[in-house]
This record gives sequence, C-alpha cells and structure tokens, in this order.
Amino acid sequence: MYKLVIQGGTPLNGEIKASGSKNAALPIFFSSILADEPLKLSNTPQLSDISTTLRLLMDMGAHFILEADSSILIDSSNLTNLVADYSLVKTMRASILSLGPMLAKYKEAKISLPGGCAIGTRPVDLHLKALEKMGAKIEVKNGYIYASTKKLVGCQINFDLVSVTATENVLMAATLADGVTTINNAAQEPEVTDLVYCLRKMGAKISGENTSTLIIEGVDRLNGAEYNICPDRIEAGTYLVAAAITGGCITVKNIQPDAMRAVIGKLIEAGADIQTNENSVKLDMKGRRPKAVNIRTSPHPNFPTDMQAQFVALNAIAQGISTVTETIFENRFMHVPELCRMGADLKLEGNTVVCKGVKSLSGANLMATDLRASASLVLAGVAAQGTTTIERVYHLDRGYESIEEKFNMLGANIERVQH
Ligand code: UD1
Repeated sequence: MYKLVIQGGTPLNGEIKASGSKNAALPIFFSSILADEPLKLSNTPQLSDISTTLRLLMDMGAHFILEADSSILIDSSNLTNLVADYSLVKTMRASILSLGPMLAKYKEAKISLPGGCAIGTRPVDLHLKALEKMGAKIEVKNGYIYASTKKLVGCQINFDLVSVTATENVLMAATLADGVTTINNAAQEPEVTDLVYCLRKMGAKISGENTSTLIIEGVDRLNGAEYNICPDRIEAGTYLVAAAITGGCITVKNIQPDAMRAVIGKLIEAGADIQTNENSVKLDMKGRRPKAVNIRTSPHPNFPTDMQAQFVALNAIAQGISTVTETIFENRFMHVPELCRMGADLKLEGNTVVCKGVKSLSGANLMATDLRASASLVLAGVAAQGTTTIERVYHLDRGYESIEEKFNMLGANIERVQH
C-alpha cells in the first residue's frame, strides 16, 4: 500500500501537459469489440482503470500491442469468452460499457453488476431498459447481468435521466443494430462526442453529436481505425484549481478549453486571470486568495460533478461564504469530513455543502475515499500549512496519471511512500 506525503504551503507555478481523457478512453477501448479489425489508439492515459479495461478485454480473448510511438493497438475482433467477471468489474464501474458492444456483435453477454466509486447507488437500469427495448433479453441473477438477443433492432430510446455511460452503451450497440436508433435526452459530455468521432472513423453512421439527440443508422460491420483520444478536461481542471488554491500561476497544455467553459467561468469568478489559447489555458492568481464561488452540478455543458470536490477544497480556503450543491450523485461528499479535519468550516445540509472560507488549512492524516474526493484532498494538502498524508492512493491512480510527478513539476512537494 502506498500513501502520499505532502508538504504544503507553496504556490504552484509552471507548465504541464494534460493526459488523454480517462472517461473518453474507456468507452473507446470497449468499442474495439465492435470492430472486425484492430483499433490503434493514441493519447491513451496510463491509469489503473485503463489496465483494468485491458485485462478485462484480454480475459475475453482480445490481444493488444504497445507500439513504439506509445499508442496501443488493440484487437478485440475475435472474442472467445463473452463474460466480464466480478473480480475485474468490481473495481471499475465502466466495465458495464462492454455490454452494448458484446450484445451487438456477439448477441450475448454475461457481465457482473458493477462496482467502482462509492458515490451513490449508481444503478444500471437505464442501460438495461434501453437494450431491452432494442430487442435484448435480460436477466439479473447472482450478481450478474445475462443478456442475449436474436438481433438488436433500432428504435426510439427516451432516457428519463441524462446518463453518460448509458448513452455510450446504447450508442455502441446501435451502430450494428438493424435500422435507425434515436437516443433522446442523450448525454452531451465531450467524452460522448469523442466516442462518436471514433465510431465514425470505424464506419458507423451517427449524427447529432454535441446535442441531446443522437441518431444512429445501423451498419453490417465496423472496420479498424486510428484514433487520438481527447484530452482529460477533469485532470486539467484539477490542476487549474490547484494553482488557484495556492495563489500560483500555471499553464495547462494539450487541452480543449471549449470543453471546460463552465469550470473556467467559475475560476474567473474566483478571481483568477485566465488566458485561453486553442490548446492551452493559463491561470494566474497573482498571489491572491480565491473568492468563494457557488456551484451547482449538472450535466454538460453545465458544471461537472467530477469537479465538485475540487471546488469544495477551493471554497474551504476562499474569502466568503458559498454553497456547493450536488444534483447528480446522492453520496458525493466524502471529502467534506476529511477537509473539516484540516480546519475547514463546511456544513452538509442535504445535497448542499455550506462553505465558510477559512484563511488557511492545516496538514492532517487523511483517507482517500473515491477518485475525485481524493483529488480534492491533494489540493487541500498542497495549499495547507504543514504535512498532510493521504492513504489509499489507489483511488487517485484510477484517474490521475503520474499525479505526484505532475504536481512536483509545478513546485509542489509530494512523495509516494510505501507503508
Ligand atoms: C460518468 C462518468 C463519471 C461522471 C458521471 C457524471 C465515466 C466512465 N464516468 O459516470 O466520471 O461522474 O458520468 O458526469 O464516464 N443513473 C441511473 N440509472 C442508470 C444510470 C445512471 O439512475 O442506469 C443515475 C446515476 O445514479 C446518477 C445519474 O444517473 O445519479 C448520472 O449518472 P451517469 O451519467 O450514468 O454516470 P456514469 O455514466 O456512471
């Protein structure tokens, strides 16, 4: 087991590159199941969720090669085992993304009900109902989803809630279904659009990306393709908040600023000077203490739930009182009691945290809980006076590539220690 030991109190300065997006890479890796030829994927992040996905695909009979240019050539065209086993699925909820592709290509799948971050009950009913409507027979027993079909048939899917992975699952299934599928109330997250672009390169017929209606005309087969995964807007946003919370000045390169409008808007409201270029964002806090900002999470293009915890950390030391309301997940405040142990004045009222900014936080021994909550603890530790230790670092390794290296390149002092 590893822990992070952080000596806090230094403003972050310098330049880093964002990695490829985890949430774009995961569905794209699973889309390789649909293709009759290999997919060559570049800008893939080195994360434990990616290794888990590769292990899962290998377990099903796929093969992959790491190319000299650090892209991954993945061949999932001849799966022999149409099962996503509990031992792998339990650590990564996104494994449910193998369901749509397996059903579409092989007409059957057996998938363990997912685990992943403990940020709420997170059911998969929307995925199952939609695939049933397309002609799948689905049974849930002994913790597994058993799905089969003679053929999937295009139809109208009207989602009651906006769900990122349910949209992606149906989108992938529909590419090989008979006829036209229309997804209404589809998620518009940039990662869904990235999947659309990759599927289109594979020969899929899709329109409506970046809107709430996706129209997919099924085709007989999909080919291989080369695809460059989009940058990780959540990783980039986390580093920008790290600079804001420490009064520093950083540039994050290799990003798509347009995909980050809601977050950048809140950083400007917090008092940051922001300069955006086509592929980078520079944030300069000029040594100022951030101003408190009210946040309400909501599906894209609104403020992302995956940045909520980081902004609670910012508000904890900001000037003024603010509220942070979580509308997507019911149990996504596990960072709150940990931040209070560092001296933050945060009160949970239903799905809202009332944050009374304090001048500074003090280092403490903390426990990482879920991925983004853990990121907020790192931000707090970097801003705090004294030493902070964070245990259960594996939560962070699911979603942040080389986290301590990147922070240290910006002048932080973070060490990974075995214990
Ligand atoms: C994805 C992201 C995650 C992000 C979340 C919301 C990936 C791999 N993960 O997760 O980082 O926090 O979007 O932006 O891309 N729901 C149901 N039934 C379902 C599916 C979802 O009730 O069948 C509910 C969920 O409990 C939640 C809401 O819908 O309240 C949105 O969840 P969803 O968009 O599905 O999250 P994920 O796709 O799991």
